[in-house]
Amino acid sequence: MAKSKIFITRQIPKAGIDFLKKKRYQVRVYPKDRIISKRELYAGAKWADALLCLLTDKIDSTFIKKNKHLKIIANFAVGFDNIDLKSATEHGIAVTNTPEVLTEAVAEHSIALLFSLARRVHEGDMFMHKGKYKGWEPMLFLGTQLREKTIGIIGLGRIGKEVAHRCVGLGMKVLYTKRNRDKGFEKRYHAQFVSQPQLLRKSDFVSLHVPLTKGTYHLIDKKELKMMKKTAYIINTSRGPVINEKELVRAIKNKEIAGAALDVFEYEPKVAPGLDKLDNVVLTPHMASATIEARSAMSEMAAKNIDDVLSGKRPLQIVNPDVYKKK
Ligand code: GLV
Repeated sequence: MAKSKIFITRQIPKAGIDFLKKKRYQVRVYPKDRIISKRELYAGAKWADALLCLLTDKIDSTFIKKNKHLKIIANFAVGFDNIDLKSATEHGIAVTNTPEVLTEAVAEHSIALLFSLARRVHEGDMFMHKGKYKGWEPMLFLGTQLREKTIGIIGLGRIGKEVAHRCVGLGMKVLYTKRNRDKGFEKRYHAQFVSQPQLLRKSDFVSLHVPLTKGTYHLIDKKELKMMKKTAYIINTSRGPVINEKELVRAIKNKEIAGAALDVFEYEPKVAPGLDKLDNVVLTPHMASATIEARSAMSEMAAKNIDDVLSGKRPLQIVNPDVYKKK
């Protein structure tokens, strides 16, 4: 019997590809080093039994209706807001993601951004690169100490918890919001469960760790930014549309908050006008999970999910378990 066909929408670390090839699947990887076009995505999926896609691929209901033959859509990401889950479930297609293996990478990047904001690392770096350094100065790039400052974590999932763990190590106080209170976490980290307005009013740094859903779209908007301290910073490594980016630029320009560090953007790859002109804003290109360790493990996990589905098993990282109810 001919082996199943797998289409991968961009080059990913080889661990997963090697795994699939070893299992003798027919594997095609989109050869160009760019985001696949809609036409090429549809053509690749038409040929395949399984799709390994990225968060930059829009897997909407039109795509799913045209590709009902797919057995699995394996997203190479923990977030899966790029996929119409309801439509995939209706058409009996399993959808999987890559949680856990990137938790530490994303938490570490959030901490890198925290340090960059607090100690103005990015500003010092730009200053040096421009050849502006004239010698030590007592008032040059004064930053803020992290010890005894308060971090407010919005969304205490796996990543939010790892960020909190690191912040406690730095001597910071932790406030958090979550759908359900986690008393074990509070005890372990002397953390405090608060409402979102309380968190915004009291935190020196606010870090976002929620998935993008209808409920979290523009979770941080004009009103929320106004609640923050004038000296506070916001960090986003979750999804861009969680913040109203235009309002963020306005709030920073008006000095309503002290600055921001963003790894994700509302209209990726574009950034809101003016954002990249602000010195007190750190921008990174959606790279929070970009460690060799995390991306290789994501590649392997996505591949294993595909192998499971193609061999008639239920994959471990299924995000639409209802698909199995219907079968
Ligand atoms: C990255 O943003 C991911 O969701 O994995």
